[in-house]
Amino acid sequence: METMDNKILIVDDEEDVRDMLHLALSSMGYDVLDAEDGTKALQIFRDARPRIVLTDIKMPRMDGIELLKELKREDPDTEVIMITGHGDMDLAIKSIKHEATDFVPKPINLEVLKIALRRAQDKALTRQQIREYTENLEELVREKTELQNHLSSLGLMISSISHSIKGLLTGLDGGMYKLDAGVTRNDRERIEEGLEVVKITVERIRKMILNIIYYAKERDLQWNQVDLLSFADEVSKVMESKMQSHNIEFVKDFDPNLGKCELDDEHLHSALVNILENAVDACTKDQSKKGHRIVFNAKQDKNDVIFEIHDNGIGMDSTTLDKLFTPFFSSKGDKGTGLGLFISNKVVEQHGGQINVKSAPAQGSQFSLRIPKIPPESPKDKTTDEE
Ligand SMILES: Nc1ncnc2c1ncn2[C@@H]1O[C@H](COP(=O)(O)OP(=O)(O)OP(=O)(O)O)[C@@H](O)[C@H]1O
Ligand SMILES: [Mg+2]
Repeated sequence: METMDNKILIVDDEEDVRDMLHLALSSMGYDVLDAEDGTKALQIFRDARPRIVLTDIKMPRMDGIELLKELKREDPDTEVIMITGHGDMDLAIKSIKHEATDFVPKPINLEVLKIALRRAQDKALTRQQIREYTENLEELVREKTELQNHLSSLGLMISSISHSIKGLLTGLDGGMYKLDAGVTRNDRERIEEGLEVVKITVERIRKMILNIIYYAKERDLQWNQVDLLSFADEVSKVMESKMQSHNIEFVKDFDPNLGKCELDDEHLHSALVNILENAVDACTKDQSKKGHRIVFNAKQDKNDVIFEIHDNGIGMDSTTLDKLFTPFFSSKGDKGTGLGLFISNKVVEQHGGQINVKSAPAQGSQFSLRIPKIPPESPKDKTTDEE
């Protein structure tokens, strides 16, 4: 709890009253300021910002009510105690309307004044506490909103997953039906077809589950010292058979001097595979061209590594480009969860890098991942800092 200062401002046109109050309040431990009229009082108030002002209600030029209004306008938290004379009833009522804290009748009885001051102080303290509670409350509301957002995106995820699972089950059903028929009739071709469908579907389920696991819990990266050339080779190896089976020319172009770099190879691997898979999907969907080609290159630019994936598939219009990294955005129906790029982007951001996309409908797309060779906050540095 913040300590409160002890400043008090006395405003009275009568010097005797001011002197008497000055003495009395000083002996009570207050840091006393005084003014003989409203204008002076306002000046002092603006400089010293006392929390409590004790003012005579009847004064020449600016009276106590005017001063009260002015003080409350400048700082509504100021506690203003009015000193009322005999027959000032109307003024006293008026000052209640303008939120005076209390009244002390003239001639001033010190015991009565003490009670009024205590009340004013309590009020100021309560105000301060309320302000602190309100701030805490605002913080709580913020946390709650975050939680709500998380829950609603969780709801969205569950409905999207259920939908995908339904599609995957249909796929599995189809595969098993073929397998079943093949086994019954001892038809090897049918068995192989069925098995292929089951394999593809299981692979999709695996991918989806991995995405969900990643989405459900934000992972910390596992930093490893990685040889970039072999890393790029491993990523392309995963894609090679897929490219072949879809008749896509796969061009790799890696700078042989890439060297080593600290990164989370497992997560970055998945990110690149997802982008390459998207490129394959974009090519297979495109019927406008005869041949399709995906170029995967890795190069260096100053202290960054750049992975580029270029396809001549269907490309994207501006609406798709805008939504690209939003979770659950997919144009693939049951075949996509729409988490792929959202997660890839997160992984790249966690590496302190960024993904740039260029694309044009019917032309193709280019994804460019820029990753700093020196991670944003090397985990090793961090531990030494903490030690
Ligand atoms: N190379 C590309 N060419 C054309 N469209 C693309 C390309 N890459 C992504 N997209 C569009 O962006 C959408 C989102 O991609 P994202 O990888 O996030 O999800 P997805 O591939 O649909 O599903 P999954 O979660 O299985 O990866 C795709 O559905 C597609 O419409
Ligand atoms: Mg994808």
